[in-house]
Amino acid sequence: MALHYKFFLAGIIFVLLGMILGMWMGMNENFLYKDVHAHLNLLGFVTNFVYGLYYRGDREAEKMPLPKVQFWCSILGMILITPGIWEAQTQGALAWLTIPGSLLSFLAMILFLVVVIQRSRSTVAA
Ligand code: HEM
Repeated sequence: MALHYKFFLAGIIFVLLGMILGMWMGMNENFLYKDVHAHLNLLGFVTNFVYGLYYRGDREAEKMPLPKVQFWCSILGMILITPGIWEAQTQGALAWLTIPGSLLSFLAMILFLVVVIQRSRSTVAA
């Protein structure tokens, strides 16, 4: 499967989880986990979807090795940061997961920067 589809699918899975949590919050009038909801939707869905759109537009870039590392940093970052923020709302023991989660999410964006700079130098300006 092309990398951009993997980004799209991952984003859609995160936003479905975010929406389920949002509906649960609304139904129960319990907004304790609204930060988890916001991160699932913005970091999980919007960010991954933007990555995917970029690679959909630059099919040569997604054949490089770096975007694959970026993908796994982004996914693993979300998998760690989501329970981490959840736990942070209640001072839970797993709140430390936000640290590796946020570092991986940050690394994914740094790798994206590197890819975009590399591509801007290698492609002929339109
Ligand atoms: C089925 C769809 C959704 C439902 C039912 C839903 C529901 C909610 C609810 C109940 C809140 C808390 C409001 C409050 O604190 O008074 C909230 C906050 C929020 N939602 Fe959603 N939402 C949905 C989709 C989305 C999407 C798609 C995004 C972004 C792409 C989003 C971003 C946010 C943000 C940024 C906040 C504020 C969080 C905060 O204040 O910490 N939501 N949403």
